[in-house]
Amino acid sequence: MPSNKRASAIVLFVCVSLFIYIYLFITWQIQFLESTRRKRDEFYSIMSWQSRNLTDFIQPGHSTCHVCPQIPQICKDGQEGNSTIFFVTSAPQNQKNRAVIRSTWALNANPRPIFITGISTNPKNMNLLLEEAQIYKDIVIEDFVDTYKNLTLKTGFILKNFLNICPKAKYVMKCDDDVMINPNIVYELIAKVPDQNKPLIGKLYVGTEPFRTVDSKYYIPYWLYELPLLPPYLSGTGYLIPGERVEEILEESFHVPLINLEDVYFTGMVSMEKLNMTLQNSKRFLSFYTQKANKCDYRRMALLHHLEPDELDKIWRETWNENLNCNKTHIFRTILSGIGMPPFFVRKNFLDLDLD
Ligand SMILES: *[C@@H]1O[C@H](CO)[C@@H](O)[C@H](O)[C@H]1NC(C)=O
Ligand SMILES: *[C@@H]1O[C@H](CO)[C@@H](O)[C@H](O)[C@H]1NC(C)=O
Ligand SMILES: *[C@@H]1O[C@H](CO)[C@@H](O)[C@H](O)[C@H]1NC(C)=O
Ligand SMILES: *[C@@H]1O[C@H](CO)[C@@H](O)[C@H](O)[C@H]1NC(C)=O
Ligand SMILES: *[C@@H]1O[C@H](CO)[C@@H](O)[C@H](O)[C@H]1NC(C)=O
Repeated sequence: MPSNKRASAIVLFVCVSLFIYIYLFITWQIQFLESTRRKRDEFYSIMSWQSRNLTDFIQPGHSTCHVCPQIPQICKDGQEGNSTIFFVTSAPQNQKNRAVIRSTWALNANPRPIFITGISTNPKNMNLLLEEAQIYKDIVIEDFVDTYKNLTLKTGFILKNFLNICPKAKYVMKCDDDVMINPNIVYELIAKVPDQNKPLIGKLYVGTEPFRTVDSKYYIPYWLYELPLLPPYLSGTGYLIPGERVEEILEESFHVPLINLEDVYFTGMVSMEKLNMTLQNSKRFLSFYTQKANKCDYRRMALLHHLEPDELDKIWRETWNENLNCNKTHIFRTILSGIGMPPFFVRKNFLDLDLD
């Protein structure tokens, strides 16, 4: 009975396969759960022992900077009333990002942007950073260990330094070192801001769920934030804070236990929830970038994220190439210009300078 034999062979084969499959699946699941648990524990051990009170780090009233900022000339002259001070959050080893920014958009900013880092526990990186700071005189090194989980401290130190060097500036902008800024667009935007109730400006997120997957860059555990939704907040890639509110924001933050997501913390929990400040969405803050986009549109953008240093350099050159003719109206707008909406839908408003 060859066919019967064949049938049992097939059954056997299927059973063995199924068994192996189930076995592998279960081991994989166990490993996955195990590694998730380990990462959670790791996160907990890194974050739990450290104070959640910002005053312990910021130390208001004390000088904390290892390398302190220079006071921009226009602030010394009392001419800062219409300007924006750019603070670029950078990591000690991101020398390349800083070099590219210095040779691109920084040239259009007055005063020039100030880089801010913490200290590196690697002595070699730390020495290189100190040398660079001495040469360019545009780096502030603050008194905390520079890690991604410590990013909230970096923003706190931005506010502290801003108050020390130029508290009367109209706005302070926090941005990352992997974004392209058009300072002129930022200046045009803030020129439109009314004198009363100046808003925070950036890309607004509303109704975002906290990332509970431990592998996410934005992971936040329940013990740091337990609500099912994050408050509305402005994307940390770059946002503007009115200078006259900075002191209030920093003071208030001393009473809000800190979390690892600096944008949610400062714009959402402190400025909006505690101080009832307005978060103003602007279409000119782009949180993603695509090769296919129209370079003419980039000229109208305040911020473009996220770019590797070489990419930033290339895009800056292409965007500001004199031979690029932006006089034509483009019938086929890129998806980018619509920020996800059908292009014709937003085209009418795309070039206006309204704060939406
Ligand atoms: C800012 O600019 C506007 C318009 O150019 C001017 O009226 C205003 O006085 C300026 N404000 C300060 C503080 O310099
Ligand atoms: C944050 O910085 C503080 C102060 O330097 C340091 O003690 C702590 O280990 C850092 N925390 C993390 C999570 O890196
Ligand atoms: C942090 O410490 C300061 C001064 O000791 C205190 O006034 C403040 O309430 C504390 N904040 C939190 C969140 O515990
Ligand atoms: C919050 O601000 C808005 C205007 O921006 C105002 O209408 C409202 O009364 C304020 N709420 C509180 C609680 O102060
Ligand atoms: C674009 O238009 C402006 C005036 O609207 C003109 O001065 C400029 O020469 C034009 N550029 C090109 C490349 O056609």
